Amino acid sequence: QSADVTNLVDLAVGAAHEAGALARERRQAVSRMTVAATKSTPTDVVTESDTAAEQLIRDRLLGARPGDAVFGEEGGHSSGESGVVWVVDPIDGTVNYLYGIPQYAVSIAVQIDGVVQGGVVHNPESGETWTAVRGSGAFLDGSPIYTTQCSELSLALVGTGFGYDASRRVRQGAILAELISVVRDIRRAGAAALDLCAVATGRLDAYYERGLKPWDLAAGALIASEAGAVVSGLRGEEAGERLTFAATPKIAEELRDLLERLGADQD
Ligand code: IPD
Repeated sequence: QSADVTNLVDLAVGAAHEAGALARERRQAVSRMTVAATKSTPTDVVTESDTAAEQLIRDRLLGARPGDAVFGEEGGHSSGESGVVWVVDPIDGTVNYLYGIPQYAVSIAVQIDGVVQGGVVHNPESGETWTAVRGSGAFLDGSPIYTTQCSELSLALVGTGFGYDASRRVRQGAILAELISVVRDIRRAGAAALDLCAVATGRLDAYYERGLKPWDLAAGALIASEAGAVVSGLRGEEAGERLTFAATPKIAEELRDLLERLGADQD
């Protein structure tokens, strides 16, 4: 199985690189870029690039494997009978993308019979590509990566993110106000997939966010856990929309308990 998954991840790497190049070229031609549609609120922008990049990924993946299904942020669900489902975020970090902040990513996970087995996250601006196959470790540009060894919450650099819902943000702000006095510092970098990869690479000690969608977290969560992070929801359940938590092991329990006390998975 793992040799097969490696081939699937290789296919996804190729698609992610092509889609990333497309997104980056379109970003460079910014005067031609228009906001194609808006989602739930005006800050949740869906650019033409997002739609075009997802179409390219679908074409590449289904061109090679017509029996698979694709579950993508922009295009909804397309069905297949092979048992393989690709979970795709063509541009994670859309707002960074719009503003020209070089911190956005293509995220592709491969799920087999309901379980994520492989993942790719690619930042087209830095050129970095993170990959993982379940049970085989995590890699940045082919080299193995690991979480930090941070063992004290007061020394932890913690990433987070905010959804697009204003009332939820009020609560998220209140939680941050408590957290910031007990950790080293907080980062809000703007792309969940890259935040999870940052934990995997030792660029953050921990990360949490409420309200992520499957395409935001599927690849990054596997990469973080394969790099040695504790990845879960707030009470040890699977990471998901309610809460996605990733931390280097020695601070995981203390931080998770604190976030639970602060109600990080409540509205
Ligand atoms: C968003 C980013 C952001 C996170 C939001 C996500 P999108 O994804 O990952 O960092 O805070 O919750 O929705 O909309 O740019 O693909």
